[in-house]
Amino acid sequence: MKRVILGITGGIAAYKAAEVVRGLCTRGIEVHVLMTEAATRFITPLTMQTLSGNPVVVDMFAEPRVWNVQHVAYAKRADLVLVAPATASFIGRLAAGIADDMVCATILATTAPVLIAPAMNSQMYRHPAVQANLVRLRKMGYHLIAPDVGELACGDRGEGRLADVSQIIDQVLGHLQRKADLAGKRILVTAGPTREFIDPVRFISNPSSGKMGYALAAAARDRGAQVVLVSGPTAQVPPPGVEVIQVTTTAEMLAAVLEHFPQMDVVIKAAAVVDYRPQTTAEHKMKKGSEKYVLTLERNPDILKMLGGRKGDKILVGFAAETQDLIENAREKIRAKNLDLIVANDVGQRGAGFGTDTNIASIVHRDGTIRELPLCSKLELAHHILDEVVALTGGEKD
Ligand code: PMT
Repeated sequence: MKRVILGITGGIAAYKAAEVVRGLCTRGIEVHVLMTEAATRFITPLTMQTLSGNPVVVDMFAEPRVWNVQHVAYAKRADLVLVAPATASFIGRLAAGIADDMVCATILATTAPVLIAPAMNSQMYRHPAVQANLVRLRKMGYHLIAPDVGELACGDRGEGRLADVSQIIDQVLGHLQRKADLAGKRILVTAGPTREFIDPVRFISNPSSGKMGYALAAAARDRGAQVVLVSGPTAQVPPPGVEVIQVTTTAEMLAAVLEHFPQMDVVIKAAAVVDYRPQTTAEHKMKKGSEKYVLTLERNPDILKMLGGRKGDKILVGFAAETQDLIENAREKIRAKNLDLIVANDVGQRGAGFGTDTNIASIVHRDGTIRELPLCSKLELAHHILDEVVALTGGEKD
């Protein structure tokens, strides 16, 4: 069982730490809570003790209730330390190396990864002193979970709201799952939509946001793979440490994928590729003419099917976005495209498919076995898919 030490510091967002504890505990993680004195003004240690099922430490000098020399004991036993919410003054103390509370002292004494989720008023967040301290923390190797933009407790709107609890939990899980079980593997992921232009200002496309593919790229990187991400146009921020190739049309995606395919061990095609393109693209913006306009389309190449034809010992993973006959259609695609796995997502369901932060999918194997997964974040789904990939490469599945 993984053990997370959660540090809570004194801001109004401290009440959300209760949800963080619950979210982690329901995923089978052992949580120990440390609170600053100021945090106890916003939420009680009793609440956190009840939710985590473990004693809460506030006073560094109190008689140890769990392990001796408390801050060192927590620091040594942590698989990960999370601070949520992290106030401006806590960030300042940590950046300066001041260990006068249990949270700072534990962090200074740990070698575990440390995730910090700031939350404060937006003016405070933008203050040069706070920004400089955040830069220092990042340079020291701490991982920051950027705050959201939105309505703040003080009535202002802006940057500084504690990141969404589901995001915080995803980041924790992502770090805990870093197992390097894909070290030495080269993985190509495609993400986002393609676009096929009718004229310079109009195109055919679909609502793919790229979230699924970017989550896969980040998860594969975290597990030690060398990742190439071929991405259609999206608003996603490229994951650091991943080689990103931006493309627009299906032809460009095909060219990028074929160029890198020979060097890859695994290809995962999460992109929503446009199947048809206009037979001709007008050179200039088309003017309105008659009441009806008939557009003639022609088939785009099926990139995944082409890879299936030259598969060799590479692992090929496809996605199937379906609104009916999910499993039958997915099985047919495995056969037609010569795949090892297909991730079948029922895009008609709430919380699944295009644009959402979550997905509902079944992983279908070539031999017909199916692993049905519940609604989960796209990052969690990415890790489930990679677990199957690891098993196919001869590694251990969780
Ligand atoms: O990007 P998000 O907003 O996060 O949404 C995620 C998603 C819904 C786009 C993703 O989960 C998904 O289902 N992607 C595949 C969508 C799709 O195009 O499905 P398909 O059934 O049409 O294609 C089957 C497979 O063949 C896919 O792996 C696709 O990448 C590939 N394909 C399809 C057509 C084509 N011309 N070339 C291809 O390579």
